[in-house]
Amino acid sequence: MESIPVILDMDTGIDDALAILYALRSEKLHVLGITTCFGNGDIENTTRNTLAIVELAPQMVPVYQGASHPLASSWQSTAEAFHGPNGLGGSEILHPVQTAQSVGAVDFMRKSIIDHAHDIVLVATARLTNIASLFLAHQEVPSMLKRVVIMGGAAFVPGNVTAVAEANIWGDPEAAWVVFHSGVPITMVGLDVTMQVPISDCLLSSLNPEVPYYNIIQEAVDFYLSAYNPGSPPGKRTAPLHDPLAVAIAEDAQLCRTRSYPVDIELHGQLTRGMTVVDYRERATTIPNIDVAVSVERNRFLREFAQRLQFQRIC
Ligand code: RIB
Ligand code: CA
Repeated sequence: MESIPVILDMDTGIDDALAILYALRSEKLHVLGITTCFGNGDIENTTRNTLAIVELAPQMVPVYQGASHPLASSWQSTAEAFHGPNGLGGSEILHPVQTAQSVGAVDFMRKSIIDHAHDIVLVATARLTNIASLFLAHQEVPSMLKRVVIMGGAAFVPGNVTAVAEANIWGDPEAAWVVFHSGVPITMVGLDVTMQVPISDCLLSSLNPEVPYYNIIQEAVDFYLSAYNPGSPPGKRTAPLHDPLAVAIAEDAQLCRTRSYPVDIELHGQLTRGMTVVDYRERATTIPNIDVAVSVERNRFLREFAQRLQFQRIC
């Protein structure tokens, strides 16, 4: 089987952690490295969380620290309610043995993309700050990538930070604008599809207790389920597997159906900053630039997710 070389760009976070495990337990993806970005925590937290999760996976990959704040503003924490004070649900203090590489995220991405010209799929499950910085500094790079698969945006459904903006775009709209205008082939895995693939109490309770990530995933996902279901006792809670779905689609594009649309990023609106504006008019005047995931094979993804991470039920 031919492997797909990928770089994961993440703000590890609870669903990012599940996405890392999904990727590092894949037989098809060849993860060259993971770059980190602020988002679900500050950059020290998201980098430490990434290192800690990688140590619980079946293969070690290098981790490269990236941006600590958006391109055009300072960073304010907004994700604590969903990802906890340390980005992984809170109470367990993680002490990874490894440290991040001395090379930074942008330099690592550039070198890898040149070394594997036209082959790499970049999977972004965070603010697009690292990728925008790379494209701004090295304008030859977008045309050397195979594709960027982005967990971000909301095409035909509401946002999750504001009425119209999804967190990864809302958190650095200027960066998203750079990437969406770069000409690189993009698959946008937005809330349209990620809200359809839940993790649940039922699934969590079936995790194989022998896996090395059992404790951290139990604790973190329990926090995530509480956050998405305030006031509901454990039992029937569900929460979206945003980031694992983006990794899964990078590995197997047939998991979703896409439609090509002109998509732009709103930078100015008082109510709409960070919106992914999709021009779905029949006679749109701009050329389609983004493949937007519009439907997903929910059951097939959930089955693969459960089997790969060793949940013992599919529900
Ligand atoms: O909107 C969901 C996204 O925001 C996910 O990537 C989650 O991890 C957060 O970064
Ligand atoms: Ca994320």
